[in-house]
Amino acid sequence: MTPGIKPLVAGNWKMNGLSADLSQLEAMAGQYDDALKGKIDLLVCVPATLLSRAFDKSHGISIGAQDCHGQASGAHTGDISVEMIADTGASSVIVGHSERRTDHGESDAIVNAKAEAGLSKGFQTIICIGESESERKSGVTLDVLKTQMAGSIPDDWHGGDMVVAYEPVWAIGTGLTPTADDVKEAHQFMRDELVSRFGDKGATVRLLYGGSVKPANAEELMAIGNVDGALVGGASLKADDFMGIAGAYHTI
Ligand code: PGA
Repeated sequence: MTPGIKPLVAGNWKMNGLSADLSQLEAMAGQYDDALKGKIDLLVCVPATLLSRAFDKSHGISIGAQDCHGQASGAHTGDISVEMIADTGASSVIVGHSERRTDHGESDAIVNAKAEAGLSKGFQTIICIGESESERKSGVTLDVLKTQMAGSIPDDWHGGDMVVAYEPVWAIGTGLTPTADDVKEAHQFMRDELVSRFGDKGATVRLLYGGSVKPANAEELMAIGNVDGALVGGASLKADDFMGIAGAYHTI
């Protein structure tokens, strides 16, 4: 955690979730009481097909999309713009998730344009970075983070709530997590990079850890310096798991 920064626990449902699964969102909202609202922000990024209906059932939980296009409109079959996301009521977006970078060949430049679209709309915009297993093994993790941050984070940041998520690719969906020391080193490095680029404003950016976060390891991860919350995939699909992670803040 960072003193003075309100943590954010963000769920990413990925390509999961049909109408019936909105009952899980309602169950999460039912457990997001005033005490917890005072301690942490909660966000659930649902598939685009559920954005409007999720927004209607969110009761204080923020709703976000998992991707956006860099432009407001145009001939881009299958894409959705930040304008369209805003039209559903949602006001958050994840950009540059490693699954987008890998499955859709998204470069840092593409992620940068998406991030700029989100931020200039005033969105909470979560920019994801993280090294692959081979990069970690060859000892270039911090170089990779530096390059991804330089390329994916827009210079033109005047509005919106910028959030940066450190997600080691090898930890996503695998049950593996880096050591607490490795997370601490990565997050301190990210903080230093943001401060050197944006000054005091860089010190206010929430830094999330993502990759196999579960109720069982949430408390340990959140106690690490400069870990200001979590980006949660698999464990965000069920209310009990997701709220178990959120509840880790009650003990800190
Ligand atoms: P996971 O996914 O929690 O299932 O590892 C994290 C993510 O991809 O954001």
